[in-house]
Amino acid sequence: MSKKILITGGAGFIGSHLVDFLIEKGHDIIVFDNLEEQVHGKIGKPPEYLNKNIKFLKGNLANYENLYSAVKDVEIIFHLAAAVGVGQSMYQIAKYIEYNTMGTANLLDILVNKEHNVKKLIVGSSMSIYGEGKYKCESCGYMYPKLREIKDLKSGFWEFKCKNCGKQLTSLPTDEEKSLDSTSIYAMSKKHQEKMSLLIGETYGIDTTALRLFNVYGSRQALSNPYTGVCAIFCSNLLCGNPPLIFEDGLQSRDFVNVKDICQSLFLSMEKSQAKGEIFNVGTGEPITIKSIAEILTQKINPEIKPIITNKFRAGDIRHCVSDITKIKQKLGYKPKISFEDGIEELIQWVKTQVGKVEDKSKKALEELKNKGLV
Ligand SMILES: NC(=O)c1ccc[n+]([C@@H]2O[C@H](COP(=O)([O-])OP(=O)(O)OC[C@H]3O[C@@H](n4cnc5c(N)ncnc54)[C@H](O)[C@@H]3O)[C@@H](O)[C@H]2O)c1
Ligand SMILES: [Zn+2]
Repeated sequence: MSKKILITGGAGFIGSHLVDFLIEKGHDIIVFDNLEEQVHGKIGKPPEYLNKNIKFLKGNLANYENLYSAVKDVEIIFHLAAAVGVGQSMYQIAKYIEYNTMGTANLLDILVNKEHNVKKLIVGSSMSIYGEGKYKCESCGYMYPKLREIKDLKSGFWEFKCKNCGKQLTSLPTDEEKSLDSTSIYAMSKKHQEKMSLLIGETYGIDTTALRLFNVYGSRQALSNPYTGVCAIFCSNLLCGNPPLIFEDGLQSRDFVNVKDICQSLFLSMEKSQAKGEIFNVGTGEPITIKSIAEILTQKINPEIKPIITNKFRAGDIRHCVSDITKIKQKLGYKPKISFEDGIEELIQWVKTQVGKVEDKSKKALEELKNKGLV
């Protein structure tokens, strides 16, 4: 049966793919999005790629009345709108808290105090809230280290050593039980979104689910936004003839999950009663190093260029974090379907259609971080 669904941030990368997915299933979609300039440029109109069979409401989460006009008549909300730059959040603190924390507070305040039909809320949370992932020392067992020490990083020692015996730690998939050690204002604001939503959902009987998304990649990720999405940043470097800049030695690893698999997880959270009140990791469970991402993209987009390994580091960067997806597999039947090879191929096809439309702003973004002492 067709349902009335609101997607906040539905004009963005993940949101717009979810729109297509849900329209295909026959649902009625409202998108609420402020068309943030950093993501969408100056045009002020919904992006070309956004499905036309929706109702579009332009508005900011920070504006209570605007947001209420979007919430009033829907049954289900996917809350995906957020400011998404990790490094940027370390100097635009008030903005990140206003959009992500206060924006979500507005949404929840509406759900508690205003008339509506909302039965279900699904929040796009983030792996960033874990900080470092889970590790193991072969002699001493599991370890959950905090950030690495500056003196190690300065001497080019990038991995973790066991605090007891000094052996190098091995990275393991991180499960939902790991403590949350956010290392940026962005991550803190995502934690606020998740925790506040689950609390209010439970208190007021609104089915609420939080999905901790790992590193999402795919078409439509804003190539001109230099603050987020390493795949998109490398693609925009390469399209503009610039080498991708790799921090540390490039052997730090992440879990790259295709946006279509994210849509699958969001849809399962809406459909399955087992999702109620739960938190799930969404990734592939497979590590990929940043260096290999840079090499694959360079090879496919601009093989004349060589990525640069800078051996520099950024404040708050973690070394390894890969998802343990046992819980979402068992409870919701999620299974990543898009192989990395196929996903990257599709990304490249899309990136090639963006030639001439992209400005590489990553140098300026790096300068900003340097000026603040964050690199
Ligand atoms: N892309 C990833 O790898 C990733 C990983 C983990 C979590 N997430 C989360 O997924 C969600 C979607 O991210 P994305 O990658 O699609 O980013 P995106 O920037 O492409 O999309 C976010 C959308 O939200 C809109 N927006 C931002 N602030 C707003 C506000 N105050 N009011 C209304 N609209 C606003 C933007 O205009 C944009 O269209 C975010 O909540 C993000 O934190 C993304
Ligand atoms: Zn040890």
